[in-house]
Amino acid sequence: MDLFTFTRAELTSPVQFIGGRWVVSAYDDVRAVLADPVTFLPDNALTAVTPVAPAALRALVRARFSLPPTLANNGSSSHAGLRRLVASFFTPARVAAAEPRIRSLVSERLGGTDLVRSLAWDLPAIVLMDLLGLPNVDIPTLKRWSTGSLEFFWGDITRERQMELVDDVGDFHQWLIKRYHARDGELFCALADAGVSAEDSAGLCYFLLIAGQETTTQLLSTALRRALQDRSLWARLPEPGVAESFVEDVLRTDTPVVTWRRLTAREVVLSGVRVPAGAELVLLLSGKETDPRHLAFGYGRHFCLGAGLARLEAAVTLRTVAEREPSLHLVGPEPEWLNLLSFRAPKSVTVAR
Ligand code: HEM
Repeated sequence: MDLFTFTRAELTSPVQFIGGRWVVSAYDDVRAVLADPVTFLPDNALTAVTPVAPAALRALVRARFSLPPTLANNGSSSHAGLRRLVASFFTPARVAAAEPRIRSLVSERLGGTDLVRSLAWDLPAIVLMDLLGLPNVDIPTLKRWSTGSLEFFWGDITRERQMELVDDVGDFHQWLIKRYHARDGELFCALADAGVSAEDSAGLCYFLLIAGQETTTQLLSTALRRALQDRSLWARLPEPGVAESFVEDVLRTDTPVVTWRRLTAREVVLSGVRVPAGAELVLLLSGKETDPRHLAFGYGRHFCLGAGLARLEAAVTLRTVAEREPSLHLVGPEPEWLNLLSFRAPKSVTVAR
């Protein structure tokens, strides 16, 4: 079985050793792991899945790239303060206030033939930059840096591919360091004012500017495709509450962040299986068809800070497109998929009217 493409249906045990990692898939186990950051450390959350080969590593060192523990990969006491600072940009009031802007961005993006490129691609990045108070960001460059980074850190890639991607990783990080020193934008001012170092700020922003929009691009892509596969649902999406509950269903069984990682601090037993200390756990976040619960945004201390924003963007997008384009339908062959350890989504959603 392949860690980059496996599905829940293929697993034969709730704790299964695949390709050197322990895949944990029972809801209660995954939740218990996420709820106990002392036994299950978040330290490996952002570690490259394919070990970085020496030539790419030298390039990263030259670019002074580093990812110190800040948010998702931080099990230390500095996590709470950094999390509070970032959370202040995503309060329910700030998120709700973004709704008209999201709706108008969707309206401006109607009419494309590939909904991933025309709609899902840049919208989450534009909304995120607004919320973080970061003006003058070249969105196509940000997307190149962030899609390249996802593949570099979560992909099953060759040394050659690492070398092709490593400049995007390094350039993105250097740009973040520069903006921090220039106090260019609200987020960087808030970090500098709170005494967060340039290195920690760049590491935090590197993750936040990727996690805060690539995942939502993926959720929009999956949700639009799935919604268009069901004509009666497409017709009902404009009704109150239908888009919201459909988004929960997509998150439950087809979440873009299909897995998330933890490291065992000691030997543990999960569903009767003994797992050694220092083992890498791959927690399956996409749920069972028959279970109404989901852990798409994680659980506990590291629960996703953008859950409300992602839900709003997805519901507003689906509702607006379905309202304005009732006759939209899927055409063409099966799309190619993004298959990374932790991220899965269709790369295109081809439509006709
Ligand atoms: C569909 C979209 C998204 C999904 C499925 C998703 C999923 C996740 C998951 C699984 C985690 C790890 C949770 C854990 O360890 O318990 C996480 C953490 C995080 N997410 Fe999201 N996310 C999404 C969108 C966003 C957005 C829009 C933002 C930014 C506004 C964001 C910011 C973060 C941050 C900052 C963390 C780390 C929190 C911490 O360590 O304290 N995410 N997300």
